[in-house]
This record gives sequence, C-alpha cells and structure tokens, in this order.
Amino acid sequence: MKIAVLPGDGIGKEVTVQGVNVLKAALGAGHTLELHEAPIGGAGFEACGDSLPAATLDLARNCDAILHGASGVAEDERRLPQQAAGFALLRLRKALHLFANLRPAFMFPELIGSSTLKPEVVDGLDLLILRELNGDVYYGEPRGIQTCSNGEREGVNTMRYAESEVERIARVAFQLARKRRRKVCSVDKANVLETSALWRQVMIRVAAEFPDVELSHMLVDAAAMMLVRKPRQFDVMVTGNIFGDILSDEAGMLTGSIGMLPSASLGAGKVGLYEPVHGSAPDIAGRDIANPLASILSVAMMLRYSFDLEEPAVRIEQAVRQVLRQGYRTADILEPETRLVGTREMGEAVAKAISQA
Ligand code: IPM
Ligand code: MG
Repeated sequence: MKIAVLPGDGIGKEVTVQGVNVLKAALGAGHTLELHEAPIGGAGFEACGDSLPAATLDLARNCDAILHGASGVAEDERRLPQQAAGFALLRLRKALHLFANLRPAFMFPELIGSSTLKPEVVDGLDLLILRELNGDVYYGEPRGIQTCSNGEREGVNTMRYAESEVERIARVAFQLARKRRRKVCSVDKANVLETSALWRQVMIRVAAEFPDVELSHMLVDAAAMMLVRKPRQFDVMVTGNIFGDILSDEAGMLTGSIGMLPSASLGAGKVGLYEPVHGSAPDIAGRDIANPLASILSVAMMLRYSFDLEEPAVRIEQAVRQVLRQGYRTADILEPETRLVGTREMGEAVAKAISQA
C-alpha cells in the first residue's frame, strides 16, 4: 500500500501524525505500508515556491491513496484565491479527477450532548453529503477581477455544470443510496439559476435508471434550514461544489464538532484522497488542542474505499467510539464530567484501543 501523506499547514500537521499512527495500529504487521510525505499549501510554498509543488503532484498521482491534513495559512483571506494555500487542494482535486466528495455526518451517541442542537433533533442522525468536486463556480471560466469601462473594478466567477458532470455525480449518489436507506435528495437553486435547472433535469433523468431509490429535490436555502430543523430526514444529499462546501460545514456542527467529520474524494481513477472536512485553523495550530478524530476517521474511509479493507476500517471506528465512551474529549467536544485531552493523547488513546481489541 503506497500512501502519499500531505500534512499541509496549521493543525493539518498535528492531526495527520495521529491519523498515520492509527493507520499503522489498524493494519498491524500483515500489510506492507509505504508512506511518502510531501509538502502542500503554505508548506509547499515555503519549500518550493509553489503551493502544489510538481514533486507533490507527481507523488500523489503515483500512490494508491492520499492522506491530506489541511492547506491554508493565516494570510489567505487577504489574498487572491489563486495565491491562497487552499488553492493547491483545488488543483490536486482537479488534476486527479476526484469529482465525488463523500462527507458523512454521523451522530456518535456518546457526543449527543456536545451538539448545539437538542438531543431529540440529532439522535440517530446518519446522513451523507455527496459534493461534486470538479466543477461549478469553483472552476468556471471566465473568472478574475477586471476593470469596467467606467474605471470601476468587478469580480467575476462563472457557475457552470455540463450534463455529463451532473450525470456522473448523480450515478454515484444513487449507487451510494442503494447501500444505505435508498433516498437521494438533490440540492440546488433551480428557482434562480439555469445551472441548477439543468442539474435538476439531469438528476430526474438518471433517477429513472434507479427505480428502487427515491429522489427528492430541495432548494439550497431550504436545505440549510432543514439541516438544523429536521436533519434525520436526509440519507444521501447530492449537490454541487459550492453548496456542498457550505452545507457540509453546517452538517458537521450537527454531530458536535466539525473536528469529527472525515471525507473521501474519489474519481474515475484508482487514487482516492482522504481528509478532514475542517481547515488548517491557524488560530489554534501548534498547541496540541485540535481534534484528530476527523483525520483518524478519514483513515478508516481510506481503508474502506481505496483498499476494500472493511475489517480494519470498522476497527478504527469502534476504537473511536470506545475512547469517546471512556470520556476522552478534545476541547471542541468537551462536556462536564469528561476528560480533556490534547491532540496527541486522543490519537494515542485510539491507537491503544485498536491494539488492545
Ligand atoms: C473544503 C475547504 C476547501 C473548499 C478550501 C480549503 C479550498 O473549505 O474542503 O471544504 O472550499 O473546497
Ligand atoms: Mg469547506
């Protein structure tokens, strides 16, 4: 198993160390694990003047799977998008054709008290946001900042989806729903946007191939509301790149903390990319307080989707539940009568739970 480890910036570095340790613990001696580390994001820029160094991209292409931490530095929000460290990730997703982004939001019963929502609203929550990851306003051309004839500047981005792009993500949505509760809710803004009107038509067309799966549609504003009002109605939510970005942060909070949310980005090829949904959080970086569980749960997704190793994947997920049951909590999920631990101690507790199982 050849894995590219791209810790990136900020807390990405700290949580990835724990993800890797848990991976080693879960695999034991039976597998040959080849780990190759490379810089990305601000770390890539510092190392070689490019947030996605050619050697990093090369390595990523030639591995079976990629474990990414987080890419982004404190100055990013003052820069043009293309200069921001997170842009490296967008280039990587595109270069490897990783178009299907799976972001499951699962309520661990042990964490029900750390959700900001009432327990009866989130109890039993188990949904999957399937975010299209290679199109939309993220990549549409034209884009840029231009000067108009009156001398004023305007920013331009283009929302665009081709039928074939919608079709392929729709198929993934219906196939995933078949392994779950057979419900797909497609989220769009078809009352305003032509891109969404076409998206909806294609969803309906592809749904005909999956008569055993129920398809519904929801406008994105209503979906944002329903996620906090009645989130258990959702099984698979399929949506475009930008709506999926926003809704997945929201879904993360339902489960107590975005620090719990793993993700998998899959494509037509064999390489998959696994990463926490959270960002690099420069404000808390380097202090051993970040929650490593999203990275650890991303490793479980890697074993499941890239290597078809269901058994160690489940072992990791059960170990996470066990340490939560034992009361281990990082600051983001801390509750009264639980035990505050740092990034490292949480990761070590999970690794230990695996080796003792
Ligand atoms: C995410 C992140 C990225 C995105 C950023 C870092 C470019 O927010 O993975 O959700 O917008 O896709
Ligand atoms: Mg995001």
